[in-house]
Amino acid sequence: MIVVAAGSGTRLGAGGPKALVGLDGRSILHHALERVFAAPAAQVVVVAPAGREGDALTEVLATAGDRRDLVGVVTGGPTRQESVAAGLAALWADVEVVLVHDAARALTPPVVFERVIDAISAGAPAAIPVVPVVDTIKRVEGAEIVAAVDRSELAAAQTPQGFRRDVLDAAYDSATADFTDDAALVAAAGHEVAAVAGDALAFKVTTPDDLDRARALVAEHPS
Ligand code: C5P
Repeated sequence: MIVVAAGSGTRLGAGGPKALVGLDGRSILHHALERVFAAPAAQVVVVAPAGREGDALTEVLATAGDRRDLVGVVTGGPTRQESVAAGLAALWADVEVVLVHDAARALTPPVVFERVIDAISAGAPAAIPVVPVVDTIKRVEGAEIVAAVDRSELAAAQTPQGFRRDVLDAAYDSATADFTDDAALVAAAGHEVAAVAGDALAFKVTTPDDLDRARALVAEHPS
């Protein structure tokens, strides 16, 4: 599994890398890793912000328990895609299924990891968690609404996103554009992507409001 945690957190505005921002006494990365280590994974690679690898390692050591030997920390890149590529390069040769998870989805329940792993085990080359879109969506051009979009056809993509290793490696090797998630990159390489049920708790901490929500949830349900 690759946990990408190298984002700068510019939109959060918390004055440092997002993954190291605290939810309670513990960071976003710490909470994400607690849930990651509740799922079965042979190897976990944490992709850390440049210069903060030591802080990421501290969180790994605090959460991995007896699976410490299975964890590596590598340095991320300027885009999420480059950070995932850095994680991929650190995977052991014998890993056949790869999950890519955003540390920023700190409260993702372990059952979501299991659903993704089950879909890949059942033969899907790629599988991602999705949740229904609740807002009414419009297509806009400048300040003008040009079309309504049928939201029953839409879903919001979450992580962990799961892939057969050979499929993800080949898609990364041939990627020429920048994609916002790995499923889009793998779909562009011609592979089908299966959908499994996501979870509202797998929301991504992006804005200060998201951070308030995550902090309130952690305060309500201390782990
Ligand atoms: O920026 P955003 O919140 O969409 O990033 C999603 C995830 O990707 C976060 O966990 C973030 O730390 C990670 N990321 C990364 N390297 C980047 C940008 C984002 O590891 N250069």
